[in-house]
Amino acid sequence: MKSETCEQSETFETFQNLGNSDELRFDQNRCNEQIKGYAYIYTIGCQMNTYDTERLFFILGGLGYAKTEILDKADIIVCNTCSIREKAQEKAFSFLGRVPPLKKKKPHLITIMTGCVAQQEGQGAFKRNSTLDIVLGTQAFARLGYHIQALMKGKNQITDINGSSTIYEAMPDFSFIENDKVSRFVTIMQGCDNYCTYCVVPYVRGRERSRTPDSIVAEITILADAGVKEVTLLGQNVNSYGIKEKICSFPDLLEKISQVSGLERIRFATSHPKDLSDDLIYAMRDLDKVCNQLHLPVQSGSNRILKKMNRGYTVERYLERIGMLRENCPSVALSSDMIIGFPSETRADFEETMALVRQVEFDGIFAFAYSDRPNAPASKFSGAVEEDEKMDRLNHLIDFQQGITHGKNKALVGSWERVLVEGLSQKKRHHGGDYLPQMTGRTESGKIVHFLGKNISPGEILDVKIERAYPHSLWGEYTKEL
Ligand code: 5AD
Ligand code: SF4
Repeated sequence: MKSETCEQSETFETFQNLGNSDELRFDQNRCNEQIKGYAYIYTIGCQMNTYDTERLFFILGGLGYAKTEILDKADIIVCNTCSIREKAQEKAFSFLGRVPPLKKKKPHLITIMTGCVAQQEGQGAFKRNSTLDIVLGTQAFARLGYHIQALMKGKNQITDINGSSTIYEAMPDFSFIENDKVSRFVTIMQGCDNYCTYCVVPYVRGRERSRTPDSIVAEITILADAGVKEVTLLGQNVNSYGIKEKICSFPDLLEKISQVSGLERIRFATSHPKDLSDDLIYAMRDLDKVCNQLHLPVQSGSNRILKKMNRGYTVERYLERIGMLRENCPSVALSSDMIIGFPSETRADFEETMALVRQVEFDGIFAFAYSDRPNAPASKFSGAVEEDEKMDRLNHLIDFQQGITHGKNKALVGSWERVLVEGLSQKKRHHGGDYLPQMTGRTESGKIVHFLGKNISPGEILDVKIERAYPHSLWGEYTKEL
């Protein structure tokens, strides 16, 4: 076990002498014959945190704590945090502000902060919220049971932000799979070695490391056997999966996962444009289960800004990659992340971003106002963009993209789409003298489709005719059962 935040961890209690983290692991498969209490987890941030939350419920389940969605009922409250932007970080502390009155009513209540803010703040988190009991870093999940026991033996304010060169590998507890959940996240790698100058991830998630293909395939096989039809593979940069460990390339991993029977669709995020290989494009073209969708964050349309961001590609190279992708997968749905108002971004730089967005015509984008992050080099760059100006540029971009997204949806009206049914909406609608349930699903390209249908179950794949297009969803007609 090595500490990757060594400067900070010197002052913190370390667990270096406790041996291999596996030895500290509790028996997660232990049956909860006796429920000791309830665990509530508040999750902020990305899909990886959603996946981590499932792991946390799994660990807590093994310790006798059942899941609850009612805060007042909890005996353990976990805040699983995100520090990608300041807003997300503040959301965590504002949630934790609700805990002190609960603790007054229930003195045995345990409060845990985990995730990226926990990793970043370490012991400092206790200064912001003194009712916290455990601050658990992003690589310390395996030791959660150990810390809870220590707490029960009288220890207080425990911090564990030590690093780990491995990924917590325990298989999920399928009692947490809700019956109608047909789509799941699977983390295939953690950390990042790219050091984009605005980004906190390399500092809070550690060095890039990949899970073995066997463990990933085993997990997905269990999921598929339990009725899951779609997985989204998660990593900060899936294109570099397995390269460091020399275990398996990402396209080869996709091929292995494609062979899992019962699984119908594979998605993945995030791809880094600098590492988008021809082989991955061919895998997307040739593997039927791999969806026709790619999230390829460009961040800016200005080469000057891309260089300052340390992104490792130019606009020209990005466009070349997209050209190659569209040549091989003509109907691919493309999405991107954009950062607006990076230090020294001028109006002219922003206009270059707008020009790129106009040229590429993404199906959708996630646009963010630049936010200074601790440790990230850009926080020391000069040329901060005024907040008002940043918001003005951001709103302009979002408005423009909304028109493109809506236009892309409108272009699908009249076409037939293969829709994976995800669930039943609460709404019922009148149709031909009958009230029918409204169903929700996704096209292969990831667009949400609502339609009416009888006797349809989540997990079915149906041909739906698209009738109407909204800015963020489609309305379709499924005629077979009507
Ligand atoms: N400020 C604003 N947006 C950021 N992102 C990452 N770091 C920052 C930051 N400091 C955005 C990037 C990334 C997405 C997950 O969050 O666009 O792709
Ligand atoms: Fe952050 Fe860049 Fe790594 Fe993405 S690739 S996680 S933006 S450092």
